[in-house]
Amino acid sequence: MNFALIAAICLVAATSVLSAPCPSTEIQDCKDNPLEIALVIDGSASIWQNNFTEGLWFVQNLVNRFSISPNAVRVSLVTYGDRVYTEDAFDFDTYSDNAGLKAAIGNVPYRGGNRTETGAAIAYMLDTQLPKARPNVRKVAVVLTDGNSQKEQVTKNEALRARKTGLEVFAIGVGKDISDQELHNIASDSTHVFTVIRYNLLDDILNRLLFEACGGK
Ligand SMILES: *[C@@H]1O[C@H](CO)[C@@H](O)[C@H](O)[C@H]1NC(C)=O
Ligand SMILES: *[C@@H]1O[C@H](CO)[C@@H](O)[C@H](O)[C@H]1NC(C)=O
Repeated sequence: MNFALIAAICLVAATSVLSAPCPSTEIQDCKDNPLEIALVIDGSASIWQNNFTEGLWFVQNLVNRFSISPNAVRVSLVTYGDRVYTEDAFDFDTYSDNAGLKAAIGNVPYRGGNRTETGAAIAYMLDTQLPKARPNVRKVAVVLTDGNSQKEQVTKNEALRARKTGLEVFAIGVGKDISDQELHNIASDSTHVFTVIRYNLLDDILNRLLFEACGGK
């Protein structure tokens, strides 16, 4: 299916009497389905404090569209820059409702490290957080980055290792310096790659991301 087309139809529908089957309505059907969402968020110095904060707002909007509870949707988070900021990470079972999770995401500090160790962060998510996921529950990872890790091959290898466990991986690239190659190295396939030019435009991709995260139906 062509998501640009769906988005275009939805845009038209929003301003007319048409009731097109927009992704935004589909989420209602999946928001209670058991799902583990592993967030991996770039907090390196190439992203400024205010950009990082806008990224967190987007992540709050994303998780808020799901029912956060021990039996429905659970969320883990890890940020990274020159290293993996494990002291700021939380696991799937740390928060058990929308309000607690939203507050925690809002409190994630910006550390602005001088490197972009995306591969190490994916490895942490995979080796430390994912083992605590519920068995037989769908698992998705969302990697939010400006798409320029120094160790491109490590990022690629760790993402591949993650996908081999059955994890569905989304890559969201923000900014004008994003490497499309890196995003495609990370993501499960091209429908899992999203790009926006500025952090404050992330909400533009929210419905399409939700649609895909719901299994594309
Ligand atoms: C990043 O590099 C700049 C310039 O070299 C330095 O002033 C700053 O303290 C570094 N930041 C971190 C978090 O290492
Ligand atoms: C980061 O924030 C600055 C200041 O608001 C803005 O000019 C810039 O476009 C932002 N960068 C991204 C990638 O969003």
